Amino acid sequence: SPRKSFDIAVIPGDGIGKEVMPEGLRVIDAVAERFSLDLAYRHIDWASCDYYDETGSMMPPDWRPQIGECDALYFGAVGWPARVPDHVSLWGSLLKFRRDFDQYINLRPVRLFEGVPCPLANRKPGDIDFFVVRENTEGEYTALGGRMFEGTERELVIQESVFTRTGTDRVLRYAFELAQSRPRKHLTVATKSNGIAVSMPYWDERADLMAQQYPGITVDRQHIDILTARFVLQPTRFDVVVASNLFGDILSDLGPACAGTIGLAPSANLNPDRLFPSLFEPVHGSAPDIYGKGIANPVAMIWSGALMLDFLGRDPTCPDGERYRRAHDAILSAIETVLAKGPRTPDLGGAARTEDLGKAIAELVKTID
Ligand code: NAI
Ligand code: MG
Repeated sequence: SPRKSFDIAVIPGDGIGKEVMPEGLRVIDAVAERFSLDLAYRHIDWASCDYYDETGSMMPPDWRPQIGECDALYFGAVGWPARVPDHVSLWGSLLKFRRDFDQYINLRPVRLFEGVPCPLANRKPGDIDFFVVRENTEGEYTALGGRMFEGTERELVIQESVFTRTGTDRVLRYAFELAQSRPRKHLTVATKSNGIAVSMPYWDERADLMAQQYPGITVDRQHIDILTARFVLQPTRFDVVVASNLFGDILSDLGPACAGTIGLAPSANLNPDRLFPSLFEPVHGSAPDIYGKGIANPVAMIWSGALMLDFLGRDPTCPDGERYRRAHDAILSAIETVLAKGPRTPDLGGAARTEDLGKAIAELVKTID
């Protein structure tokens, strides 16, 4: 049957990124074997503080041609604050990828699993199952503005927000399409048009226009203040939540926090037009405090790999996309089983090691449905 092959840049980075990456690859190898996926890895040792120590920069000058033609970047974590300041390591690698590859969607699934203690009272698995879709390139995060009359009584500071029609519509479109693909077909639009009186009414207006093209989707517009309260008090009401850069930043940490440990949360930075590679990474960082002990939870890395396979399989030029989606589903089922039955790493109250979880999940994906 016809096939398509995908090139994946594998970038472990720093700290526990180097410990969880082998487990991510172990699981991907296992599903690739089972579902006949055609994946080629390009192993990258830069975008790390080790590389910085040797060379004085985070990446080689030709980093872009080296990975720009790949279909995806599978990324561990970057940062080692004792050796390299965080703004140097992050701006010198990860944030360059996000910007230069126009990864305008930041996607975070939020799900409560059996076997994972929930910080919210009386919630059971199934109650929390939604996506946060964050705009990742513009909005409130700009370098536009300045200071005048500095140091005087008239001191004045202005920081601009930017909402382009292109930037607004493309993130809304992605969120509506995602909601359309899910059984509940429910979209929550985060706004603050009662307080931010220029950009947020525009955001609402574009969302209303877009909604006319998706009559099957119920749209619920909520101001960001009450919306954050509802993440905690009524998490069952969410299916897909779309937000500007700043609001999405907050929601995309709050969401996973409502569903348990940071060692589980995955994320995708997507260029849905596939003009550039998309990036898949755990939400957590390099965790210097536990690095070297072999106890990091690899689930966030493994789940990020599942998101990557799902995204690759939806490439319109991929004739066997169905197999990639089945691979994603098998990984999720295996994660579900391991979280419920163990083994468990110390962050989940167990004594298992990183590779024990990786091996257990890799074994399960060979047969699970
Ligand atoms: P962190 O996420 O690395 O660690 C926070 C806490 O969570 C630590 O106690 C750590 O042990 C624990 N933890 C994190 N991941 C875990 C896992 N998989 N299993 C078990 N426990 C886990 O955040 P922190 O300490 O603020 O940052 C450390 C470094 O990572 C910094 O250089 C920071 O800039 C960088 N960082 C990088 C990110 C990225 O690459 N996307 C994201 C967040 C931080
Ligand atoms: Mg954040």
